[in-house]
Formats: sequence, C-alpha cells, structure tokens
Amino acid sequence: MDLAYAAFQRAFQQETGLDLTSYKQRQMQRRIDQWMNRYGVQSYNDLIKLIQEDPEKREEFLGYLTINTSQFFRDKRVFDNIQNMILPEWKKQGITPRIWSAGTSIGAEAYTMAILLQEAKLNYSILATDIDEGALQQARSGLYREHQLQGIPPGILKVYFTEEAEGYRVLPSLQRGITFRRHNLLEDPFGRAFDMILCRNVFIYFTWETQERLLQDFARALRREGYFVSGSAEQMTDPGKFGLKRVAHCIYQLEK
Ligand SMILES: C[S@@+](CC[C@H](N)C(=O)[O-])C[C@H]1O[C@@H](n2cnc3c(N)ncnc32)[C@H](O)[C@@H]1O
Repeated sequence: MDLAYAAFQRAFQQETGLDLTSYKQRQMQRRIDQWMNRYGVQSYNDLIKLIQEDPEKREEFLGYLTINTSQFFRDKRVFDNIQNMILPEWKKQGITPRIWSAGTSIGAEAYTMAILLQEAKLNYSILATDIDEGALQQARSGLYREHQLQGIPPGILKVYFTEEAEGYRVLPSLQRGITFRRHNLLEDPFGRAFDMILCRNVFIYFTWETQERLLQDFARALRREGYFVSGSAEQMTDPGKFGLKRVAHCIYQLEK
C-alpha cells in the first residue's frame, strides 16, 4: 500500500474516529482522490488540515465517503417478503418486534419498516443508526424529495406523508417508535435480542474480514429465530457459518 495513504488513514482515524482500513482500499482511495481533485486539495496532509479547520467541509467529506444514497421500499421484493411472511408470524406470536436498521442513512429504510408495521397493526420499536450525522439529520426531519420517494406506492404516500414546498414529510405518528442515533458499526457496542436487523448496502464497502466480524456480531445481537436482512449485492454464500439460514431473497433467520 502507498505509504502516504497509510499515514492518511491513521491521521484520519485520529481526527474522525473512522477506521478506513476496514473499507475496501481501492474503492475508498479512488473516492478520496476524486474529492481532492474536485476541490483542488493537493495532498493528504492538506486534506487532514482542511478537515481540522473547516467543520462544514469535514461533514461534507464524511457524508461523501460513506455514500448515503437510499430510497423508500428499496428492493421491493425484500419488503414484500417481510410483509407477507414475517409480519403475520409476529402478529400470531403477539410480539412487539424490536428492529434495528443499521446504516439507515436518511431513514428511508426505517420509515419503510414503520409503514409496514403500522399497516399490519403491530406495535414496534425501531432503532435506526448511522455514522453520518448529516444523513441522520434528514432522517429525523422526515422531509424527502421526490426522487427519494419513487418506490412508494401512491396510496401509502397519501396516508403517511404531507406535501410541503420542498417535498414530502412523514407524519409524526410514523416517527413515534423510531429512535435515530449515531452509531459506528466498526467500534460501538451492539444491542441484544433484536427480532430483526436490517443492514443493507453497507457491507459492500467493507473488507471481507470486516464483513465476517460484523456478521458474527449481528448474529449475536439477534434473538433466537430473529431475522437478518442484507442488501441484494451482499447475499451470503455460507450463512451457516454465522448460525443463520436463508429463508427468502436477502432474508436469513438465526437457527434455534
Ligand atoms: C448506501 S447507504 C445504505 C442505506 C440503507 N441501508 C439502504 O439500503 O438504502 C450506506 C450507509 O452506511 C453508512 N455507514 C458506512 N460506514 C458506516 C459505519 N462504519 N458505521 C455505521 N454506518 C456506516 C453510511 O453512512 C451510509 O448512510
């Protein structure tokens, strides 16, 4: 690895707490170089200085690095399976599911779950976490632009959102039951006994060793027979290694 980049990784971690060595190197370095070109930043040292001196640029850079694109009902097949297979089972069992949307970004995933749970008339609590404060701010505000709402069935949009000048805002009743919190998957402790954990389109950026470690941690954070939901580019080849079995597209269940 190039020495200047290795030194940058150390300085960056000291400055922001984010361990870049856990992310795929080529992809990450390419993104950093692109950003430096865009803003005419000449060296990694200058980039560290910029992050230290300009809080706004620091947040912008962090947001850019962690790529927070998301959408409501992203990969609809997954949410159809949750709706048709898992929610009726929870309802029959009379449980109030505890759900964790890990790497929730702007909150679209957490609100999508809340919509499905309300439609199924289930009580719930959702913990929605991300490392990116900017994304979490939008999640808490609940205000979205049209392109982020493309996957939403029109009937659902009418019931759960109000139209405003800048876009659509989720109803306060949808926000109740969701806690948005900053959490770094690489170093903060995980909760326990979740009925479902969704971690989608987050793993693709991590090295394989980091992915394995996180999958072990996620499996430990589930209750028995709890569900882990991955992104479609992150499906597991050997879920048994983590005590999981595949039950549907992108959905895995912790074995008894
Ligand atoms: C592409 S978005 C995925 C959003 C949503 N899960 C979805 O599938 O639409 C990836 C998210 O992972 C978050 N992320 C990246 N590294 C993280 C880390 N170490 N801890 C927590 N979140 C992280 C990013 O901030 C970003 O919001």
